[in-house]
Parts: sequence; structure tokens; C-alpha cells
Amino acid sequence: MAESPLSDPGRAQWTPSSWQDRHAEQQPEWPDAAALEATLKTLATYPPLVFAGEARQLTTELGRVARGQAFLLQGGDCAESFEAFSADSIRERLRVLLQMAVVLTYSAGVPAVKVGRIAGQFAKPRSSPVETVDGIDLPSFRGHMVNDIAFTTAARVPDPQRLVEAYHQSASTLNLLRAFTKGGFADLDRVHQWTQEFVRTSPEAVRYEHLAQEIDRALRFMRACGLDPSTVPAMHEVDFYTSHEALVLGYEEALTRRDSLTGDFYDCSAHMVWIGERTRGIDDAHVEFFRGVGNPVGVKVGPTATADEVLALCEALNPERVPGRLTLISRMGADLVVDRLRPLLRAVADADHPVVWACDPMHGNTFTAPSGRKTRHFDAILAEIKGFFDAHGAEGTWPGGVHVELTGDDVTECLGGAEDIVDDDLGLRYESMCDPRLNGRQSLDLAFRVAELLRA
Ligand code: PEP
Ligand code: CO
Repeated sequence: MAESPLSDPGRAQWTPSSWQDRHAEQQPEWPDAAALEATLKTLATYPPLVFAGEARQLTTELGRVARGQAFLLQGGDCAESFEAFSADSIRERLRVLLQMAVVLTYSAGVPAVKVGRIAGQFAKPRSSPVETVDGIDLPSFRGHMVNDIAFTTAARVPDPQRLVEAYHQSASTLNLLRAFTKGGFADLDRVHQWTQEFVRTSPEAVRYEHLAQEIDRALRFMRACGLDPSTVPAMHEVDFYTSHEALVLGYEEALTRRDSLTGDFYDCSAHMVWIGERTRGIDDAHVEFFRGVGNPVGVKVGPTATADEVLALCEALNPERVPGRLTLISRMGADLVVDRLRPLLRAVADADHPVVWACDPMHGNTFTAPSGRKTRHFDAILAEIKGFFDAHGAEGTWPGGVHVELTGDDVTECLGGAEDIVDDDLGLRYESMCDPRLNGRQSLDLAFRVAELLRA
């Protein structure tokens, strides 16, 4: 029988709908309760998007991260879009993540566990429920699962039909990801060739060349030893997992199913789900829902989090202390990360909670550029990751991974990187509906720079 992360006393009082008795932050104000209910009923009859066994396999892999024997790479859009939905965009996001994973695997010397913010990342928490433009107030955009980004009254009304569309887009995205990752696209030689092409054309070619050549030599060595990529599955297939912020609890409940093997409930909307910084109240609805599902779960932890809060989350979400069940994703900001993170690392280690610590270097480093665009600077992103490594170095804990917002497309949303995007460039191709993402080349820049940190 698979190890269960769920404690028996807790499970006794938990049901997929017990969150409804708690206060739920950041939920849409659906105008028509009957229409919502009918939609959720329909969704509850649809097939699960993932299977419990896959979620358990991810817990096992994350368990290795918790023990310091693997590294987590989690990344993708801030908000997936119903409009920017194409095979090309899915393939390019996957390609960047696979390339980053090879660079990180080689430099960390341990497997990279690959998790996309993809196939379900459609709901956004907002710092304000209203958006004001030219003196006009409208409800905020909350992600394509809820409403539309156009600044009109009609567009901003939450529409339950969008939950169904999110489900279908997730299903076809996941279908393509499964085909790509098992059908030869992830071939190690090929992924490395793309990276060599990137290095050749990078302004930082000299800096990156050495590592790329070492990977090249390692691949030739494996081949010389008789490891033929076409016959060794590990060299041309990868395990790739999906994740999103499980924000809209009605949707997550509708996709929650009892696993016939273990009898446990799993949220079958994704392999891994996480709780955002704004919804992690210990007595609130999100923590209540998450404590009862068997998936590996994450919680964002920002600069105001106290050690007591974090320990309470560990106890609520992983009372059985199953390694890999809980990932704490710190998002402190480059200036605060060392000071704020160290006491948390210590408290969690002292309490013997086997968590994965991941660094989200994006959400604590957002600012508005003089041009008026919301952006982040590559150097601040890298600095937060460096601070994260330093904090773990000082506390003797394992810096388990990174969680980044990225796209494979050639957007201009974040500043800096080897191509040095400046404020004037942001208007060229700023396509994100929400937070600024690293583009494909900046993402690879980041992987090479993190590789340097891993080897230092
Ligand atoms: C996000 O991951 O897009 C997000 C909103 O993050 P946080 O909850 O950390 O603010
Ligand atoms: Co974001």
C-alpha cells in the first residue's frame, strides 16, 4: 500500500467540501449561483486530468529533493491564456524547461524533478479586487478561468463556463506534454544541441561555453560506453509533471476524486497544487482543502511569514512528515531573503519537518519601471537565488529548487539578461496578462548562472 500523507484523525473530519465552512480568500463573485452549481456538477462527472499514482510518484521524487538527492525545477506562465493557446507555445515552454533541466542536472550532479506551471494555471489572486483606469472602477481580472482581461464591465463578470474551458485546455495541453515527453522530443542529445545553439549565439558565449562543452563530453562518454540514446529510455524520455495555484476551490473540489487503490482523495486537476501567499491563512478554506488531498502540495512563503505560521502549515499539511508531500516556496525579495529565510529554515529543521525548500525569485522582485510597465530585473532574480543558496549554506539545509515564471517565446517583459533588455524594450513584446516572465533566452541565462552557484 502506498504511503499516505494524510493523518487519520484529520481525515475523519475532512471532506472535499469541508473547505466551504471556512473563510475563503480571493474567490470570484459568481453572479449566478445556480449556473455555477450546474457547471461544477458537470465538471465533477468529467474524467480526471491526472491519476493518483502519478501524483504519488511525484511525491516520491520530491521526497528525494527533501533529502538533498534531487533538485526541483518548477516553471511556466504566471497566467495561462485561452487566447495564446497553441502547440508551438506549449512546445517552446517545454523545450526551455528541458534545456534548463539538463544544465541544472549536470551542475547539481543530481536529477532535476521537472514540474510545469502549466495545464491549469488559469486563476490569479489579486492585491486589489478592483482595477481603476481613468477614474473608472471595474472588478479585477482574475485569470481566464474566471473572467476576461478586457477593461469592460461585461468582460470582468465571472463566467462559470470558463471553468469548463480551463478544464478542456488543461486536458489538451497535458495530452501534448505527454506526447512530447515520451515521444522523442525530450531526447537528451537533441536538447543539448539546442543549448549549444543558444550558447553559440549568446553575448555570454565565452562564459557559458565551458559548461556546455563539459556536458557535450559527458554525452560522448556515455555513447562511447555503449549507452545508445535510442535504446536507453532515460536518455530520450522524461517524466514531466503539471502544477498550478489551486485558487478557485469550487473547481478543485469538482476535480477531486477518491483513488481506488488507497481510498485517499486526490485533486486530479494537476499532479501538484500550491497555496498562494495571499491564501495561506491557517484556519482558512485553502489550507482546509489542501490538508485532505493526497497530492504533493506547495505553499508560498513571503517576507511577513513567521516561524510559528510556517510550522503550523507544516503540521496542518504534513502531520505524518512524509518527505516530498510539502514544498515551501519562499518569495522574499532579493534584499530580504537571507534575513527572513534563515529563521524559517532553522525552525522547520528543528521540528524535523522534511520539506522541499524552493526559491521563487520572481514575486518579491516586481516593480513598476519608469515606462509604467510592471517588470523584474534579471539581476534581482539571480540575487534572490544566490541569497537563497547562502541562507541554506549557513543553516546546513538543502536549497531544493527554483520556481520561476517563464515562457519559451521571445517576449520583452523582464529587464536584463545577457541580451540586456532595457525599459525602452519592454513595449516591444510585452504579452503577459499578469506578471512579467523571463523569455526563453533569459531562462537559459538563468540556468547557466544558477549552475555556477550550484558548483561553487
Ligand atoms: C504567482 O505565483 O503567480 C503568485 C501570485 O504568487 P504569490 O502567491 O507568491 O504572490
Ligand atoms: Co505571478
